[in-house]
Amino acid sequence: MTTPVPAHEPHKAKTVRPIRFVSLDERKRNLTAAHFNVFNLTPQQISFDMVSYGAGAMSQEQLAGQLIGDEAYAGARNFENMSGAITRVLGHTYVCPTHNTLGSVKLLLHAFASSGQRLPSNARGRIDLHAPRGIELVDVRDHAEAVFTGNFDLAALEAAIGASRPPFVGAQAFADGQHPISLGNLRAARALADRHGLRLVLDVSRVVENAWYIQRFEPGMADRSIAELVKLTAKSAHVIMMDGAQDARANTGGFLATDNPADHERFINDIVVFEGLHTYGGMAGRTMEVIARGLDEMCDESTVQWAMAQTERFTARLREAGVPIERGCDGAYVQADRFLPQATQHPAHALACALYLSAGVRALVPGLVGRDHLLPLQIPRLAMSNRQLDQVADAVIALHAQRERIPALTLEMDGQWHDALRFGSVLADLAPFAFDCEPWLVHTLEPIAITTREQRERAIREAGWNTFLLRSADVTIDLLTDSGTTAMSSVQWAAYDAAVPTPATSSAYLEFAAAIRDTYGYQYVLPTHQGRAAEQILSEVMIRPGQIVPGNMYFTTTKVHQEYAGGVFADVIVDEAHDPTSTFRWKGNIDLAKLDALVREHGAAQIAYISFELSVNMAGGQPVSMDNLREVYAWSRQHGIAVMFDATRAVENAYLIQKHDLRYRSTHVKDILREIMLYGDGATVSGKKDYLINIGGLLTFKDNAAWAHAAEAKLRIYEGGVRDGGLPAADLAAMAQGVREMVDDRYIRARVEQAVRLAGWLKDAGVPVVEPTGSHAVFVDARRFLPHVDQDEYPAQRLAGEIYVETGVRPMERGNVSKGRDRDGNNYRPALELVRLTLSRRVYSDDHLRAVADGIIRLWQRRNQISGLRFVYEPRDLRFFQGRFEPLPAASVAQPAGVAATGQR
Ligand code: F0G
Repeated sequence: MTTPVPAHEPHKAKTVRPIRFVSLDERKRNLTAAHFNVFNLTPQQISFDMVSYGAGAMSQEQLAGQLIGDEAYAGARNFENMSGAITRVLGHTYVCPTHNTLGSVKLLLHAFASSGQRLPSNARGRIDLHAPRGIELVDVRDHAEAVFTGNFDLAALEAAIGASRPPFVGAQAFADGQHPISLGNLRAARALADRHGLRLVLDVSRVVENAWYIQRFEPGMADRSIAELVKLTAKSAHVIMMDGAQDARANTGGFLATDNPADHERFINDIVVFEGLHTYGGMAGRTMEVIARGLDEMCDESTVQWAMAQTERFTARLREAGVPIERGCDGAYVQADRFLPQATQHPAHALACALYLSAGVRALVPGLVGRDHLLPLQIPRLAMSNRQLDQVADAVIALHAQRERIPALTLEMDGQWHDALRFGSVLADLAPFAFDCEPWLVHTLEPIAITTREQRERAIREAGWNTFLLRSADVTIDLLTDSGTTAMSSVQWAAYDAAVPTPATSSAYLEFAAAIRDTYGYQYVLPTHQGRAAEQILSEVMIRPGQIVPGNMYFTTTKVHQEYAGGVFADVIVDEAHDPTSTFRWKGNIDLAKLDALVREHGAAQIAYISFELSVNMAGGQPVSMDNLREVYAWSRQHGIAVMFDATRAVENAYLIQKHDLRYRSTHVKDILREIMLYGDGATVSGKKDYLINIGGLLTFKDNAAWAHAAEAKLRIYEGGVRDGGLPAADLAAMAQGVREMVDDRYIRARVEQAVRLAGWLKDAGVPVVEPTGSHAVFVDARRFLPHVDQDEYPAQRLAGEIYVETGVRPMERGNVSKGRDRDGNNYRPALELVRLTLSRRVYSDDHLRAVADGIIRLWQRRNQISGLRFVYEPRDLRFFQGRFEPLPAASVAQPAGVAATGQR
């Protein structure tokens, strides 16, 4: 039985690399400066760099390994770790480390070969390594074979050995990245080599992809795991070599390994001359550690299935559109000579230039000049989503449609190697391709739990049907919250790492303050450890006991702090916000008539301030319009009342203004945000959302020094120093960088539009969701989902638990449980009884979310079987965090859809 193709990545993004999408004008300049050879471009000039070598995403374990490298010159523990992994995974005992494959080849040839010899091999690409050393490669590949095109023609191999005794037999798993070899054929080649007293030397740099082909296509192998097949493959050879920058997903490094101590001794005697020492071989200690972990991980069945399915999908999309390609184990290799109808010299270079110019995508022409009809479009391992790959394929397809317009190149500087060539050309007049996808790549990844239904049923029982009490180790896709769950960028991490700690003024604080002043235009910047700390201080500074605090709906922690300070919360949001079926666009707006009524009843002096949340969380992530912001601020000036924003998701609100207010269509989100902030006097922010960080918050005032000083006094008591709010400089530095990244138009569009797509899939299947879709989450309407469950039996709480049991997805209740009880002890029974599917920033792909939608749709189809819950433990404050429940008996199993059940209370 072959492992089924996973529906989504078996991991999520831990950290990301931002992509710069360069403009057409920039691309023209870059290409000209690069002499029409894309080798000369740097990644900063490229949208997608379609190369797999050393460009994959590392796992979090590898990243951690990088930091515990033992940089001893001799006998490093990392070498022992790497050797152990090689023996475990590849089965060979004696390891000789090298700086990469070239280092391995150097040692190998020095030990066994001499110039003038002929080497039979199944890999033509190895010509690049051998020809310059005076060794002639003899092609002994079986050109009649259709699936395992890397197989040896055993008769040809026999003949080659007979004609001139070779130094050894060369073999490559997935030769040239294009030709898999079967285990049967590899073993036959080994037997043949044995008969002649020759070694079989196997390059296992792409052994995993080769194992996948064996599992899928070699008779009798379907039941073998990738791990088994990898080991069997490696054990078929006398000597193996591997480049760490391929399947082990390191960025460099390599090794030779063998079971023959005599061979090993020859390698390590040469190593001191060419590479380093036999216990580090020209690698940093950390690299050995990264390779060790990569080797242990590389056979993970679901990861391999996912990566290969991505390659198949990418290749199929191109092939179906008529783009001439050949198979690659890591992508699609475009036949440049067939792609370009006009006969041209160096067609692969001409095509690479056109692809860069039209789409900013780079594909490299590798190696020696001579065999250059192919342009490999390789997928960096585990770094790209299918959405991105689909679009890269579409860019190539769009280029194919205008291939007549691709100009020829004229050679201006010749050379033996492709990287040295220089060309001249005209700049092609090609229709540019516009990407609309996540502007980041996965930099490091974190595996996610894959659980069974039985495990999940037990887990939710143990958690008292409260998704807050589930262990994240039991969760596959975590949609509990977007708070602090972001994947930080590599740029943020760099800032984090470089920050110098101090209890006084750090440069990280100054950076953060400058970023806030630049983004909001507010003068006083008081960091806090997170949002609720800022809310506490703001409430204590600005509320006198008995004062009213009008707000556009409540947020749980905000309201609690207003009440602790003696304030009385008054909801002034527009009525539409309480109606999950209303499609009013600006459901976050404040109803000015409600404000007027409050002033008439209590007088302006009794109003502490207006608590104005942007992108209103509890209403479903609903935005405030720019007109409303302006009007509320004008009103507040008239009455001498301050406006204090909850700017936790202000950037998302700004994006929705850009999207839905025609006047702002072509205004950058950063400028919209700056205008929003004009209409307020201060803000609290949970930095764990917009700011793309895992911890942090902010209290800020536009210009009122008295408030700022009062708040500073409290900051020292509750939080930490006035310039750190209890945050280390490192977190402040990451936050400062996050504030810069959050206003990137592409980033915020990708984020919010992902929620729109998820909602669309659910709506298409009839699942009731809050309209319009908000920015940070999709809210399922539990009242309409479970109309037969009374609100005091907590339908949203139950539905959240059911979604977890069905799919391994963890949502959050936002309804009766969250709202709590009134003074008389009755549940508030709020109008909104919702389940929130909250999207972390830069963490999940569309494939993850498609699986979420599919699971909820299955649940929708059997919704009548779902009953309510009752409390078995109910805390007084913020009961949704710790409360525990048990299910009520299912009363209405056979009931038709839409009929409300009563009598359960
Ligand atoms: N304001 C809003 C609008 C929030 O959504 C949150 C937190 C806070 C303030 C409090 O900030 O958590 O940093 O102390 N919301 C999280 C959520 C918990 O899941 O919606 P914090």
